[in-house]
Amino acid sequence: MKIELAKSYGFCFGVKRAIEIAEKSSGAVTYGELIHNPLEINRLQNDYNVGLAKNLDDIKSDTVIIRTHGITKEDKEILESKNKTLIDATCPFVTKPQEIVKEMSENGYDVVIFGDINHPEVKGVKSYSTNQNRTFVVLDIEELKNIKLHEKIAIVAQTTRKVSEFLKLVDYLVTNYKEVRVFNTICNATFENQDAVRELAKKADVMVIIGGKNSSNTKQLYLISKQFCNDSYLIENEDELNKSWFKNKNLCGVSAGASTPEWLIQNIIKKIKQIKD
Ligand code: F3S
Repeated sequence: MKIELAKSYGFCFGVKRAIEIAEKSSGAVTYGELIHNPLEINRLQNDYNVGLAKNLDDIKSDTVIIRTHGITKEDKEILESKNKTLIDATCPFVTKPQEIVKEMSENGYDVVIFGDINHPEVKGVKSYSTNQNRTFVVLDIEELKNIKLHEKIAIVAQTTRKVSEFLKLVDYLVTNYKEVRVFNTICNATFENQDAVRELAKKADVMVIIGGKNSSNTKQLYLISKQFCNDSYLIENEDELNKSWFKNKNLCGVSAGASTPEWLIQNIIKKIKQIKD
């Protein structure tokens, strides 16, 4: 059986940057998971003494690293009021929609955020609005149709959303409202990994997608893969591999989410080769 990696996979620019920042910040803690990958978080803890605090009250260190997906404006203010030294590892592609939401709400626009209201990135982005009552998070067109918007509207998207879905919302807004400012804040890294997984899944007999099960971009890769290759599996580590997946298969495709480290991908490829032999 041949094993082929997708043309684009794994760490994106924002995650690489956040990890480099963390590796230089021994003794600090991250508030929330730096990236969506438990194994990488353990590595940072063990090799670089970078801790993890899930709640504000658990933070004992004087230095706090802000995770890749950003935090809410309120949480940032609390940390500042406690005189913590903040090291900002927020991905610049996440800082961008935060700034847009702030500016547009200040200028009297209703703000629509296309994304998952429970995702930390979206919570953070929304918190920057200066008019919370006129800021709406929607997951689909039906939710959007239920909102009575004012004349001036700005729309942004969670970085990991699908462009085709975003365009449906944009189309609806432009058709029904006079002034619509559209900011495509979907991240290129997500497209590149998605295009590559699609291409590979079309020809593979089995696909293994590696990444945190709570990582939204990994889940999207898995769903795309599943569309084109029914034998697609999402795993976090090598222990989850199952020999039966590879029986009578000629081509195994491998891809990984934007928070998945290279060492983990290589370990899993090695293990697939071993269990196949
Ligand atoms: Fe940033 Fe895009 Fe990665 S938003 S964290 S470069 S997937």
